[in-house]
Amino acid sequence: MNDQTKALIDRLEATHTLSLDEYAYLVEHQTEQAAAYAAQRAFAVRTQIYGTDVYIRGLIEISSVCANDCYYCGLRRSNRRCQRYQLTQEEILDCCREGYRLGFRTFVLQGGENAVYSVEDICQVVRSIKGAFPHCAVTLSLGEFPRGAYQAMREAGADRYLLRHETADPDHYRLLHPPEMSFEARMDALHHLHDLGFQTGCGFMVGSPHQTPRTLAKDLKFVEVFQPEMCGIGPFIPQKDTPFRDAPPGTAEQTCYLLSLLRLIKPNLLLPATTALGTIRPDGRERGLAAGANVVMPNLSPLPVRKKYALYDGKICTGDEAAQCIHCLSRRVASVGCRLVTARGDIIQTASDRKSEALPLL
Ligand code: SAM
Ligand code: SF4
Ligand code: FES
Repeated sequence: MNDQTKALIDRLEATHTLSLDEYAYLVEHQTEQAAAYAAQRAFAVRTQIYGTDVYIRGLIEISSVCANDCYYCGLRRSNRRCQRYQLTQEEILDCCREGYRLGFRTFVLQGGENAVYSVEDICQVVRSIKGAFPHCAVTLSLGEFPRGAYQAMREAGADRYLLRHETADPDHYRLLHPPEMSFEARMDALHHLHDLGFQTGCGFMVGSPHQTPRTLAKDLKFVEVFQPEMCGIGPFIPQKDTPFRDAPPGTAEQTCYLLSLLRLIKPNLLLPATTALGTIRPDGRERGLAAGANVVMPNLSPLPVRKKYALYDGKICTGDEAAQCIHCLSRRVASVGCRLVTARGDIIQTASDRKSEALPLL
């Protein structure tokens, strides 16, 4: 690691801001030593705020039907090989019941965009979950909707919304999406979500086709300026039935380095060590936690549909019961000196927000 890299990492920790050129410099000068130093600083910063707690979210993949055609994703509408399914409201509630029994206090409903459920269907399922589990948080990750639809979902009780920005560079956005999708619409949607009071998550894939240090610098700057509550990043992994089938995957090393930089940009950010990170490298999620991540999102979807939610090839945990994953994750989390806790896991604004409800899971 050269002196300039260390100085920039130190300044980022102290001030939480750098210029675009400086972010690009950090991306370009990633070395094993620089990544280890950033991870050590990020882990310390995260520990000051969240201790060694790692929050769990139960991910329920409610539908593989999608009206969009993102070039990178196996659920894109043009993929005729994708096996389509949609869960009923009762099936979704069953997943929540099982999750609640296992200790989950946040449910994430994720699926293809704007295809099978009406806005009222979504509101209805949110109301049912909040009615049955009033102390749990409901997160939605169902893509772009008009502001009024987001408002209805918020009024129905949804607490959080995950909508990755995918890239903060408009030209890069056009290379990842068909012409009918626009960077401006994605940015508008994210601002609506924040304005409506959702705890909002953005995020991007690491190593997506046509990504450069410059576009990554813009992603980092975007997080610095937008100040989301959450940021989901994971390596891009090619899916065999998409236009990007032959593109190289992103790396665990770069993902972990960026997780560390994100932690230094916003110390209280909720940062998942994603399933994609665990897919690209067997110990990817542990490395992500050691680099500053503080959330894991095990799969609560019914086993028979797991393989059908095939965003990318080789996805882990598609044959494992949620209970198995929790045991497995609990060991993995402990191996890097952290502990899985039951808690809604809201963003902590000050040290005194640290909730006593954060009991060890196992
Ligand atoms: N349809 C909703 C949306 O796009 O926001 C939610 C589901 S979508 C499958 C969730 C995320 O999966 C996307 O934001 C994208 O970043 C990620 N994803 C899709 N294809 C991927 C791939 N090939 N490799 C890694 N991540 C991928
Ligand atoms: Fe649909 Fe989301 Fe996949 Fe795009 S990333 S094709 S919106 S499921
Ligand atoms: Fe699912 Fe290890 S986390 S089996």
